[in-house]
Amino acid sequence: MEKSEWEIAWSDYLSVGVPEMDDEHRQFIARVNDLNKAIIESEDKATVERMMGLMLMEAAHHFWHEEELLARWKYPETAAHTAKHAELTAQFERVMKEFALSDISFVWAIKGLHLKQLLVEHLLKEDMKYRDFLRPQGAPS
Ligand SMILES: [Fe+2]
Ligand SMILES: [Fe+2]
Repeated sequence: MEKSEWEIAWSDYLSVGVPEMDDEHRQFIARVNDLNKAIIESEDKATVERMMGLMLMEAAHHFWHEEELLARWKYPETAAHTAKHAELTAQFERVMKEFALSDISFVWAIKGLHLKQLLVEHLLKEDMKYRDFLRPQGAPS
């Protein structure tokens, strides 16, 4: 399997211009890469489950942290953004439940890829909106 097909590399275009958010996004991308690697290398189910659990926990923390900051910056789309996070969390939980009921298989690799896609899309579409909102004001303190 080509490495590049599965891995997301961090680069500047993913930056929202807020160092603490960039750090969490970077960490998150590393987790998604680890998870996909574990799935394609057919790690045992307990390992993959543990990684997913960790990712879900970190995602919940990141979403909460981001929502806190958005509210502090008086970002006008805070409520809509919060709703998107809730949707993503629900999707995550669904995938975890499905996973608990099945064996690691090709289907799992697809699910792993799909989760990754959802998260990256959120970063590129939704998180970038607050980057654009903050940009004229300079980086917040
Ligand atoms: Fe977000
Ligand atoms: Fe985010």
